[in-house]
Amino acid sequence: MAEPRDGAASGSIMAEPRDGPGPRAFLDETVRIFKETYPGSEPTIAVAAPGRVNLIGEHTDYNQGYVLPMALPMVTLVVGCVTTDGIISLCTLAKEADDPKYVEFPVASEGNVLTPGLPKWANYVKGVVQYYRAGPLPGFKAVTASNVPLGGGLSSSASLEVAIYTFLQQICPDDGDLVEKALACQKAEHTFSFVPCGIMDQFISVMGIAGHALLIDCRSLEVTPVPISDPSLVILITNSNIRHHLTGSEYPARRQQCLEAAKALGEESLRDVSMAELKAAKASLDAEVYRRAHHVISEIKRTTEAAEALKSRNYREFGKLMVQSHNSLRDDYNVSCRELDELVAAAMDGDGVYGSRMTGGGFGGCTVTLLEATAVEKTMQRIKDKYSGTPAFYITTPSRGAHVLQL
Ligand code: GLA
Repeated sequence: MAEPRDGAASGSIMAEPRDGPGPRAFLDETVRIFKETYPGSEPTIAVAAPGRVNLIGEHTDYNQGYVLPMALPMVTLVVGCVTTDGIISLCTLAKEADDPKYVEFPVASEGNVLTPGLPKWANYVKGVVQYYRAGPLPGFKAVTASNVPLGGGLSSSASLEVAIYTFLQQICPDDGDLVEKALACQKAEHTFSFVPCGIMDQFISVMGIAGHALLIDCRSLEVTPVPISDPSLVILITNSNIRHHLTGSEYPARRQQCLEAAKALGEESLRDVSMAELKAAKASLDAEVYRRAHHVISEIKRTTEAAEALKSRNYREFGKLMVQSHNSLRDDYNVSCRELDELVAAAMDGDGVYGSRMTGGGFGGCTVTLLEATAVEKTMQRIKDKYSGTPAFYITTPSRGAHVLQL
């Protein structure tokens, strides 16, 4: 079953960061709502953490492979002040978040272990508070707001986790280890919202570098920045405005099949299996498990090749790899859907487009398209004309990771 998403503009063409106010106005508005929510209090801390788009390397992170995401200009903000009462008071401005939009709970301590519950949006916050790497935490009062589309496959949840962690760093500094920060946020996602995600989303939200995509080795966690700031090039995100209710069960099922394949091939992860080894074992593997492994092994290779192509500004080659990635996700990994396939086909059906693919977990959400700046208008019009649903567009640039804002 597919459901149109609320809150996304219909057929509109939106420059970063989405429609709505620019970055300063967005912050000012959040500050205004803080003052309204907590009369008599002044906010002293403001932080931002970005969403992400993955250019290539899908469903490879939990297989210890490579990914190539970039941080977006769309961010989650947390604006607030410290308190001394050990109570966390937080209000979300996200319309799509479940009710109630305001929560209060005591900080985590030895005698008070936080556990997930309702509302669901607050679980990301509780998880991060629980796994924060310094303490004891004082309390705080804050408002959180986001212009990352919720549930659109652009890591709105990771951006909330990383924004909360960054806020906590301001009121009770940790050792500043960025890898550990991303890992703590991932743990929050695993155990408080029950999504067994890889490390990509939290990692790029923490580490993003303006003007660069990051090639992340999800085994060593080594990062190689790849410049992507050619003015003749545009990265266009198209939101299908569709979310199929499959992600919950299908994502862990894919993880399991990958583990099964690796185990059958005598390895800990598919990172250590070559395509020749997989092919040699084809007869002994379940056909579906074989296809899953085929996607992952080929995608890991495509991702390193794509990073090389990007470094040498060979956009044609990069685009070809994007389309191969999409086809592999559609045919072997089975995480695409009709709407995403339509968007990719429509994007590719014209001049000046290098490549297009679904991005993120799949089953709806967004596509990412690499194209010449001169082809943007026509491409967006073509997608609108050909897509059976109502798309939203974000023309975007690689942005920086989580940071503190001046109030
Ligand atoms: C989701 C997960 C990531 C990654 C992608 C697929 O976004 O959170 O860890 O596995 O799906 O590449």
